[in-house]
Amino acid sequence: MSSLAGKHGLVVGVANKRSISWAIAQAAQAAGARVALTYPSERLEENVRELAAKLDNPLVLPCDVTSDEQIADLPAALDREFGGLDFLVHGAAFARREELDHPFVETAREGFRVALDVSTYSLIALSRAVRPLMERRGGGSILTLTYLGSQRVFTNYNVMGVAKAALEASVRYLAADLGPQNIRVNAISAGAVKTLAASGISGFSSILQVYRDRAPLRRSVDQSEVADTAVFLLGPGSRAITGEVVMVDAGFHAVGM
Ligand SMILES: NC(=O)c1ccc[n+]([C@@H]2O[C@H](COP(=O)([O-])OP(=O)(O)OC[C@H]3O[C@@H](n4cnc5c(N)ncnc54)[C@H](O)[C@@H]3O)[C@@H](O)[C@H]2O)c1
Repeated sequence: MSSLAGKHGLVVGVANKRSISWAIAQAAQAAGARVALTYPSERLEENVRELAAKLDNPLVLPCDVTSDEQIADLPAALDREFGGLDFLVHGAAFARREELDHPFVETAREGFRVALDVSTYSLIALSRAVRPLMERRGGGSILTLTYLGSQRVFTNYNVMGVAKAALEASVRYLAADLGPQNIRVNAISAGAVKTLAASGISGFSSILQVYRDRAPLRRSVDQSEVADTAVFLLGPGSRAITGEVVMVDAGFHAVGM
């Protein structure tokens, strides 16, 4: 499968080998793309560089998504190396421990701001930053990662559920704004996957067990399954799909009682 042959992409959200974004970066490369990864802090730089070394000719750039300066520096660096951009994968999310441990009603103003800034506003800011690079390529594909906690209550998901609801709405508004430039914007709503971000949700293992018990496929999903759908959404096979949230969750969302 080389649906991304000759394409260049930016993948934001790789922290370690379990990151969903890392699986997407690898799958995108396997489909023919050349990929840039970002690291949000010096603490994570070495991890990201070690993983990037497994890719062919990778580009590694700093990007803390709460920094307007670092976001503003990305396009020039990408342009120098890639001469444009075909896709963006947005896999950044964060909420403070307090907001994930306490009842939702206790969400602090600052905790709300941080979660929505890192997990939601960053998609808008990054999309705006890469738009000129995609326009020059005649279009592009932007993909973010969301969770069903945007629509239903999952114990301890709390402010992340609100951030994901706003993220999914942002996908639709961005799709409307950028569609005339042939830039598509979609999300994958992934089933529960054991990653660094997931380990911040207390009781995450019991969520996984509910997928095993109740999802139509009697399991949750793994990173590679999300990545395969991501390659589809980044590539020409999905050229008429935008503003969409694609459920990759072993069917869990479809089940009531
Ligand atoms: N793991 C799951 O069960 C699951 C399910 C559905 C959706 N998701 C979503 O998938 C995405 C990726 O998460 P993951 O599960 O792979 O975990 P992860 O911890 O590997 O990825 C989260 C990423 O966000 C990055 N990040 C946090 N703050 C940042 C900042 N200020 N600037 C830049 N990057 C920052 C982290 O460095 C990390 O790379 C997230 O949006 C998450 O909400 C995860």
